[in-house]
Amino acid sequence: MCGIVGYIGPKEAMPILLKGLHRLEYRGYDSAGVALINQQGTLNLYKCKGKVSELEHFLTGKDGSGNIGIAHTRWATHGVPNDVNAHPHYSASEQIALIHNGIIENYSLLKEALIEHGYTFRSSTDSEVLVNLIEYIRTTNGCTLIEAVQQALKQVVGAYAIAIIERNNPDRIIAARQSSPMVIGIGGEGEFFLSSDAASIIEYTEDFVYVGDGEIAILDRHAPLRIVNHDNHEGRIDIRKLQLSIAQLEKGGYPHFMLKEIFEQPKTLVDCIRGRIHPETFEVKLSGVIDHRERFLSARRIIFVACGTSWHASLIGEHLIETLCRIPVEVEYASEFRYRNPILSPDDIVIAVSQSGETADTLAAVELARKAGAFVFGICNVVGSSIARATDSGAYIHVGPEIGVASTKAFTGQVTVMTMLALAIGREKGVLDASLYRTLSQGLSTLPEQLEQLLSEVAPRVEELAKIFTYAHNFIYMGRGVNYPTALEGALKLKEISYIHAEGYPAAEMKHGPIALIDAEMPTVVIATPDHTYEKTASNIEEIKARGGKIVAVVAQGDSLVRHSADYVVEVPVVHELLMPIVVSLPLQLLAYHIAVNKGRNVDQPRNLAKSVTVE
Ligand code: G6P
Repeated sequence: MCGIVGYIGPKEAMPILLKGLHRLEYRGYDSAGVALINQQGTLNLYKCKGKVSELEHFLTGKDGSGNIGIAHTRWATHGVPNDVNAHPHYSASEQIALIHNGIIENYSLLKEALIEHGYTFRSSTDSEVLVNLIEYIRTTNGCTLIEAVQQALKQVVGAYAIAIIERNNPDRIIAARQSSPMVIGIGGEGEFFLSSDAASIIEYTEDFVYVGDGEIAILDRHAPLRIVNHDNHEGRIDIRKLQLSIAQLEKGGYPHFMLKEIFEQPKTLVDCIRGRIHPETFEVKLSGVIDHRERFLSARRIIFVACGTSWHASLIGEHLIETLCRIPVEVEYASEFRYRNPILSPDDIVIAVSQSGETADTLAAVELARKAGAFVFGICNVVGSSIARATDSGAYIHVGPEIGVASTKAFTGQVTVMTMLALAIGREKGVLDASLYRTLSQGLSTLPEQLEQLLSEVAPRVEELAKIFTYAHNFIYMGRGVNYPTALEGALKLKEISYIHAEGYPAAEMKHGPIALIDAEMPTVVIATPDHTYEKTASNIEEIKARGGKIVAVVAQGDSLVRHSADYVVEVPVVHELLMPIVVSLPLQLLAYHIAVNKGRNVDQPRNLAKSVTVE
């Protein structure tokens, strides 16, 4: 969380910084700020509570000139979201300005020591402690800024991506990273960009350097990029090419990114399976599996680690792999896994699932698994992200940048990759029946067309339904088997963007408590598509009806049973039950979207949330 951006070069920095901040707002939008050094050598710092648009308003009439600057959009960790706690932070003498994404865990100890040395603090942030520590070291030891940063970072425990500028040093940005993402874009001569996410600076360059943990980057307008570690050993500059279309970062005529991303899913599915399912033979080939065939064949167990929506996708992955590969699977919250001393062995495969590839807990789980000798496979969206780089192998979901904070196309992309993964492993292991293999791989290939059709048919219906339920205070989502996680995900979408309390349940569990909540005010969304538990789900619906509950049922076309007991029905195409979560998710995403819009919520930037959670 928090987005950082920096620029040094011949151009005016402000427009680049503000555009970068807008693109990084998905990482947090509690406050925003910029610091620039102008031609006269003045270090100007402007910041305020609220979104980047509020910062832009605040900047009206101020001196925003300068061709070196750093900027920040915040998701608050230490200190409430207000003007003072906004970044950048000045050092006490106002000579140095710093932006920070991450958490300095030992900040209170460092702060106490600085207070003893006479420092006072304006904000309640951990970041202000770091900028003062750097200044303290710089002034007391009489060292260079880089040396001061190196020494300060040796004392810091925690996660950070920081960028620093100094009033008397208008030719340099110093940046450093530990666990939080940071990438440097190489522009023309003497020109560098810096960001938490390459997508935010993609229009200026295709050449990127990912800063590694423990590395410090020196962006100097008179010298090539340098990377050093805390002991000043030079690091390698590994330039990677990255191409992304700007159109992917715009709303393209949709009122919200979330709606655009929901409607993109037929296309993102095509991108996800392109080159992986043969269009004629329907053979599934994933290079990440082919290259490590023996590891997959000898896997004793597969453990998914993930957070949020990616965790829900992993629960679907569990069904897919256990059914198609007959390998035992566990699904873990990365945040729990990393702290509970898990039992891991070299014949375990850990699959880390993360849209951003930057989630701090998932990254830590990957590191732990690798240390324990497990083979780690990543399922990420963001190319070159930390998790993608930290894993032994992996498969990108290739759904393009997801900007809406509520994940939609990444979820269906993750489930699609997991389906292909299960098909590829099951086939290699020889445990997967040839006709089921073909049904599913062919089914996946035809899914994009079916989703296209589904969206055109179902969107107006769901929009109408949303009007009926906009003012409900609570919702229950029910599903069974592979659609239990789909229900969890449906409930999460509604919670995230409409702030309506919603819970997902395995349908049969209703009787063990949640049914007590049912009354005429409590809508229940039931996934009742054909599978071996369909009749049971139909009975569960009757139990809710008998207690006066209102039922919205997602059923397959041609359904004859559930449609009679449900109050409202949404029809989806008939696909194999293992592919159903992808199909069912679309109307559930739309339902959450329209309810949130009706309630006037900020759909793309819901309160208190951030898309990329780079703090634990
Ligand atoms: C945040 C986002 C969720 C996302 C989760 C995991 O909570 O708001 O949409 O599912 O992080 O993110 P990841 O990037 O690891 O999939």
